[in-house]
Amino acid sequence: MADVTLISGSTLGSAEYVAEHLAEKLEEAGFSTELLHGPELEALPLSGLWLVVTSTHGAGDLPDNLQPLFDEIEEKQPDLSQLRYGAVGIGNREYDLFCGAIDKMDKLLTARGAKRVGDRLDIDVMEHEIPEDPAEIWVESWKELIA
Ligand SMILES: Cc1cc2nc3c(=O)[nH]c(=O)nc-3n(C[C@H](O)[C@H](O)[C@H](O)COP(=O)(O)O)c2cc1C
Repeated sequence: MADVTLISGSTLGSAEYVAEHLAEKLEEAGFSTELLHGPELEALPLSGLWLVVTSTHGAGDLPDNLQPLFDEIEEKQPDLSQLRYGAVGIGNREYDLFCGAIDKMDKLLTARGAKRVGDRLDIDVMEHEIPEDPAEIWVESWKELIA
């Protein structure tokens, strides 16, 4: 099992690129990583450390590639009490439900017993043309928390 399993939810690739960048930074810091784009629950370790990176679509909705995992967790209600996770959202503050998708994932994982490590990062793409930039700053402190 990798030290950090990164899970991305994306439609046009922004969140995917951010997840790839974060994986790279974690690898540089000596962590092993596995990056999965919209995985099924079966493909994921139910303990250890996840880093969820997702954009928001529709009206505060999850991207199509991450919605199935969300539904599966809701339906199967796995015990995630041995899991820790980090959370990074990408959205646009001009929408009513800014970063609604990561908010939903965050609440769902907490409800299943997982413990979030550090603050959630909500990136506003209107403010940050290159969303990797705030993500890179965030991961500097996050990696201290998981070391
Ligand atoms: C049709 C559409 C709906 C969106 N809805 C939201 C929303 O409800 N909340 C939000 O914060 N961002 C919303 N966004 C902004 C996207 O999350 C943002 O553009 C993001 O960079 C897309 O990343 P992706 O390419 O990884 O999917 C929406 C964008 C589009 C095109």
